[in-house]
Amino acid sequence: MAIKWMMAALGLGLAGAALAQDAPMFGGDEDQAYAEKLWQAMVEQNLAGEGAIMSFPYPGTDPHGMMLETFYARATIDGHDGALVVKRNYGPEGVTVDQVLGMPGEHLGALTVMFRREAGYDAETGDWFYAKYLPDGSLDQNPNGVALAGLVGKNAEAGCIACHQNAGENYLFTTEAEMR
Ligand code: HEC
Repeated sequence: MAIKWMMAALGLGLAGAALAQDAPMFGGDEDQAYAEKLWQAMVEQNLAGEGAIMSFPYPGTDPHGMMLETFYARATIDGHDGALVVKRNYGPEGVTVDQVLGMPGEHLGALTVMFRREAGYDAETGDWFYAKYLPDGSLDQNPNGVALAGLVGKNAEAGCIACHQNAGENYLFTTEAEMR
């Protein structure tokens, strides 16, 4: 009732109702807290934050970035050990390898991460947890202000899972490895 009234008051009408119904299944408190632990685990392994190790960046495209780095690692979160894939996304368009290597901090746009959670987290999509961080470790948000952490883009037309489900059984574009 209250929500209906608020939407009417805001003049959202039917379009607003449709939006509310499609409210995403990610980005809540639990997902945000989990993403924070994951960020800490990455910082501890020097995969994120100041002093992060570098690899040789390679050219990429939308939506990830004009130059990319990908790291395959593992992390333990709440006692669960799982595969961790970290992608660093650099820009802007036209940025060169030398610029990225010389001043990575100046060119880093975001870190997009996949972590394989415990079996049963979301068996249907391979139990991957998704997160998109800004370089300072805070979570990026979608246009509706929802934090990009958890099952982002599940049953949706856009978003991490909507696209990564096209990558094959393991949900990874860059490797055929199972990565459990
Ligand atoms: C429109 C499609 C698309 C969307 C949306 C997308 N990705 Fe990707 N992602 C890709 C492609 C293509 C690659 C391979 C890029 C490369 O060449 O390294 C990739 C690579 C990755 C990788 C490296 C592992 C792999 O798959 O090879 C991670 C981690 C990742 N994406 C995370 C995310 C997260 C987190 C989101 C959501 C915030 C997201 N992606 C949204 C297409 C997408």
